[in-house]
Amino acid sequence: MTTSSDGPGPGICEGRVVIVTGAGRGLGRAHALAFAAEGAKVVVNDLGVGLDGAGGASPGPARQVADEIGAAGGEAVAHGGDIATEAGAASLIGAALDTYGRLDTLVNNAGFLRDRMLVSLDEDDWDAVVRVHLKGHFLTLKHAAAHWRAEAKAGRAPVARVINTSSGAGLLGSVGQSSYSAAKAGIVGLTLVAAAELGRYGVQVNAIAPAARTRMTEQTFAQMTAAPGEGAFDAMAPGNVSPLVVWLGSAASDGVTGRVFEAEAGRITVMEGWRPGPSVDRGARWAPAEAGEAARKLLARAGEGRPVYGVR
Ligand SMILES: NC(=O)c1ccc[n+]([C@@H]2O[C@H](COP(=O)([O-])OP(=O)(O)OC[C@H]3O[C@@H](n4cnc5c(N)ncnc54)[C@H](O)[C@@H]3O)[C@@H](O)[C@H]2O)c1
Repeated sequence: MTTSSDGPGPGICEGRVVIVTGAGRGLGRAHALAFAAEGAKVVVNDLGVGLDGAGGASPGPARQVADEIGAAGGEAVAHGGDIATEAGAASLIGAALDTYGRLDTLVNNAGFLRDRMLVSLDEDDWDAVVRVHLKGHFLTLKHAAAHWRAEAKAGRAPVARVINTSSGAGLLGSVGQSSYSAAKAGIVGLTLVAAAELGRYGVQVNAIAPAARTRMTEQTFAQMTAAPGEGAFDAMAPGNVSPLVVWLGSAASDGVTGRVFEAEAGRITVMEGWRPGPSVDRGARWAPAEAGEAARKLLARAGEGRPVYGVR
């Protein structure tokens, strides 16, 4: 594996143990390779399911990426469990500890889509999407946090990092993706609370909203998906998102927590979220019609909301 140690110094994740969920394909695979290239030992998790989460699990994708890292001289182990189950999440954290004796960074990335307009969305499809993204983030985070809290209490101050994966759909909304948008918005709330609760144990928690060409977005980015010619910058390559994730997952990101970044092509953006806008306080209860009048006056002074993706 080529590391920055081939150049001026050791990689920025030398000696760290990193879990990446859903790392058998797409963005997770790119993150796993990028962490290994910076000297990390990587636990490559992937359930190996279809684009809609169905189709039967397969250990193949996780193994392939672990093999790829090994063939390049890095260290990796495959884990084929379902991160949205208590047993799968617990065994994933256990795999890092059993194999490498430590855990430093958790990248929550696994997930799938079942897009439908709201009125046609089945309860099962809603549950499956919210489960894999929101619960899939919560369970791994909870088990990793329990380990880091125990480490902190034993006096072995962790320098721990979590990178969660939200989406532009979660930040701004996306037509046809109500379940996915709700889950990805929920991941931002989870990130903020986890950052606030776990800081005392040496754990930093941030989220990214990536965009890249993967099987998940082939149709969304139809015009942008073709890889460019030899030597040109492939703007939508998943690997373009990974450098920020690797930095957030390293000790070098000290002091950065509770933030959300958009990462796409060569662009990194700090997202600035909900904050109070125009406000009025009459010091007593409003009558409904008066509340409406006040709300309209405030709206006239407020900034416009950002358009939801897919609204024409
Ligand atoms: N590609 C984009 O432009 C984009 C944009 C915004 C957000 N995202 C998010 O980035 C993440 C990665 O997406 P991608 O585009 O690389 O998709 P992908 O389909 O290429 O990869 C997702 C991987 O997650 C795995 N997976 C699914 N359910 C799992 C489970 N329960 N346990 C373990 N692994 C499981 C799949 O097998 C698959 O290999 C997702 O959370 C996605 O929502 C992607």
